[in-house]
Amino acid sequence: MAINIYQDKIFALQTKNNSYLLKKDENGLLSHVYWGKRIDCIADFDETTQRSENSYHLHVDQTMEEYAPFGGMRYKETALKLEFCDGTKDFRYRLTGYEADENRLELILEDVFYPCRVRLIYQVYEAEDIIRRHTVVENFGTEDIVLEKCASAQFGLAGCDYRSIQFNGTWAKEFFRQEDSVRGGKKVYESMRGSTAHVANPCFILHREADEEKGEVYFGLLAYSGNFKVTVEATPYDWTNVVIGINDTDFSWVLKPGESLETPAVYAGYSAEGFTGMSQRLHRIQHRYLMPKKLADQPLKVLYNSWYATYFDVRCEEQKKLAEKAASIGVELFVVDDGWFLGRKDDTRALGDWTPDPDKFPNGLNELIDHVKSLGMEFGLWIEPEMVNENSRLYREHPDWIYRFPNRSVLKGRNQYVLDLTKEEVVSWMIGMLDKLLSDHDIRYLKWDMNRAIGENGVYGKHSAEHKMMWHTHMLNFYRVVKTLRERHPDVEIEACASGGGRADLGAMTYFDEYWTSDNTDPLDRLSIQESYSLLYPAKYMRAWVTDSPEERKVSLRFALHAAMCGSLGIGCNLNALRREELELLKEQITVYKKIRMTVQFGELYRLKSFETDGIQAVEYLRGAEGVVFAFLPAGRYGKNPYCVKLRGLRADGTYRVNCQGRVLEKSGAYLMEVGIKIQLHGDYDSCMIQINNMV
Ligand code: DGJ
Repeated sequence: MAINIYQDKIFALQTKNNSYLLKKDENGLLSHVYWGKRIDCIADFDETTQRSENSYHLHVDQTMEEYAPFGGMRYKETALKLEFCDGTKDFRYRLTGYEADENRLELILEDVFYPCRVRLIYQVYEAEDIIRRHTVVENFGTEDIVLEKCASAQFGLAGCDYRSIQFNGTWAKEFFRQEDSVRGGKKVYESMRGSTAHVANPCFILHREADEEKGEVYFGLLAYSGNFKVTVEATPYDWTNVVIGINDTDFSWVLKPGESLETPAVYAGYSAEGFTGMSQRLHRIQHRYLMPKKLADQPLKVLYNSWYATYFDVRCEEQKKLAEKAASIGVELFVVDDGWFLGRKDDTRALGDWTPDPDKFPNGLNELIDHVKSLGMEFGLWIEPEMVNENSRLYREHPDWIYRFPNRSVLKGRNQYVLDLTKEEVVSWMIGMLDKLLSDHDIRYLKWDMNRAIGENGVYGKHSAEHKMMWHTHMLNFYRVVKTLRERHPDVEIEACASGGGRADLGAMTYFDEYWTSDNTDPLDRLSIQESYSLLYPAKYMRAWVTDSPEERKVSLRFALHAAMCGSLGIGCNLNALRREELELLKEQITVYKKIRMTVQFGELYRLKSFETDGIQAVEYLRGAEGVVFAFLPAGRYGKNPYCVKLRGLRADGTYRVNCQGRVLEKSGAYLMEVGIKIQLHGDYDSCMIQINNMV
């Protein structure tokens, strides 16, 4: 049983290795009492947790509440803020009941006077050591209730000695890992852009002296692609308070009589085995439960994307030539990026007019699609459905379909406006447009882009509380569009992209088959991005392309290939301009990748070495008896060779065949993990791939 309950007051969520315990305390508060290594005897927690109280420090503020409402002399960060029809802003709750089955617990908090109920819902994934939490707020009265904050979850961690990891970034610099101690006050990580964005990821990671192999790590990821807020607060009472959910800035939600609001879920866990333990728990839950089912168990195809080869200058004949080259090197999916639709010559025009441009495709898009198919590949297309340019037919016909304020000029980002998805006619148009595009053409993949943030939180003709419902309504309708499309076209693979990696979150994972990680394809930058990204998300969900060397740096094609082979491989070079040897190298490595991709995309991931601490980067993937290691040297150092890479996760008593830089070795797992493999990496931008095989 994953749920254990003691005397109707202690609730334990038990996973394979961990326990998460709650308690109805002496003051009737639902408090958090333990999260860590598994403890089976939960009766041991039947003791007072009461702290001494004085007029400035009341129990409500001191207690690690499981879901603290605003008010009642609470000054810590709270999870819920609401207003009843008479202006009362205080949710005074009692735990009035619970429901439990094998893996699910639901705790009911009810106001002592007003007809309002909060349901805290927990789903336990025992084998994966993950707890899923979300919250539902219900109005069962006859008057409106206005929610001003409704977080998905709150967590209390004993002690205030944590370090917090986040991923601050920007376009082309996604997943820039930052780490700080949490002492004294609050840290807030958030997005107010109407999307996940690059500046932070909707997650918390708090650790105590953790490294890749050891140390305690607490973590939680929010499954939401809109405005989010994560607050980490070191309280003065020696515990750390974490609140995670939809951002309450400019948020409100009117609950009419009989209505309820369900928050996005948080997937949370504890690892006593450092960051590897965290990543592997997260990767497993995503593979097993979150990725869209259709492709969850299948490896992603090697794709070619023409963006860096042609930018907006898409022309049928040139694309056909690219497709021929792509097929000849082993590509399986050919994708035309931005620039294929009516009048799109640059980024100032045409978004919204999603029909093939007759100047570029005089015989329609099907001519290219048929050609691609005749070469044995599938066809894919770029699209940015949530946006419109002023210079477009769609905008000229529907200038009122965008977010705007009546007496203000409309803000532009990348010359475009955001369509107002709170309007039902816009939602219907979008579903109809996408449905038609996919029905008229044999398109098997979409790269769904989003290249600007929402700037105007304006919805025509609405004001105050209802007005602020726009952000979340936008998200719900965005998900509805993608969900409807998937139902109608279940065979179409969809990639989430937002100016690179601005839409990498577990909310998007429910609807999209993969994420575009970054527009930065410089292999060295990319390896750092990939390393941080892998803390949260699996390699399969990380589209990685080899492109022509960007201007900053000339990097060998082999190094670039190896870097991209660490994820779901894509090719973005201008194949028409490559030399024969380069095409041959691409072909050779694509063949290799197809043999190892099950291991890379589905294997357990170990970060063995990092540029920052070790001068090289090495990453290992292990799946059953097969393993792959990639190692990268950015800049050679005289006299440094050989580099020694110790493997992880092997059976100490197993025997492994190691294929490394032309040598075939047979070694025990214990030797490979304790002594390691010696590799030679020379000069600047050298790399190698090692294959391992468990023989017995
Ligand atoms: C931003 C994406 O991240 C790029 O890969 C590319 O698709 C461009 N948009 C196209 O406009």
